[in-house]
Amino acid sequence: MSHDTISANRHRHDFSGRDSVWLFGYGSLIYKADFPFLERRAAHIHGWERRFWQGSHDHRGTPASPGRVATLIEVPGAECAGMAYRVAPQVFEHLDVREKNGYLRFTTPLDFGDAQAEGLVYIATEDNAAWLGPAPEEAIARHVAASSGPSGSNSEYVLRLAEALRKLGQADPHVFAIEHHLRALDA
Ligand code: SIN
Repeated sequence: MSHDTISANRHRHDFSGRDSVWLFGYGSLIYKADFPFLERRAAHIHGWERRFWQGSHDHRGTPASPGRVATLIEVPGAECAGMAYRVAPQVFEHLDVREKNGYLRFTTPLDFGDAQAEGLVYIATEDNAAWLGPAPEEAIARHVAASSGPSGSNSEYVLRLAEALRKLGQADPHVFAIEHHLRALDA
């Protein structure tokens, strides 16, 4: 699959008759809401874990030197904490461009703790051309420390995500391990 998912995403969901749609964010969408939203709530999705296994050609790296950004992998019994936004359907025109580097929209149940809803989540699966795949967390940190792109340094992406998860009162061992190695490299 091409790494440019804009047109694939435009055909994936029919929003006709909908006033709003829930979006679940687990990476930069937690801390960078550069779109209008009607409501924002902390949420979880079940059966997924965050991994820095997706290449970034357009935000935190370049096509010649991709950075590493978050995607989700399926892990039965796992929980992934993030931020959910209720948005007007037109907002996906912006989001599809922002998330164009390998991310496809999937439908997922959202768990707010006291309520449930159905929402959409952008996931980069391993069949996309920008996929980098697993590596030891220390090697991921070295890769991140050496990468940057039009949206800024790759380190900033990791550090802001770790900080946003702490603000939500959530721990993510993978994100926190990479953050720890990054701070050690910086020291
Ligand atoms: C997300 O945040 O939900 C998707 C990945 C990203 O844009 O960092």
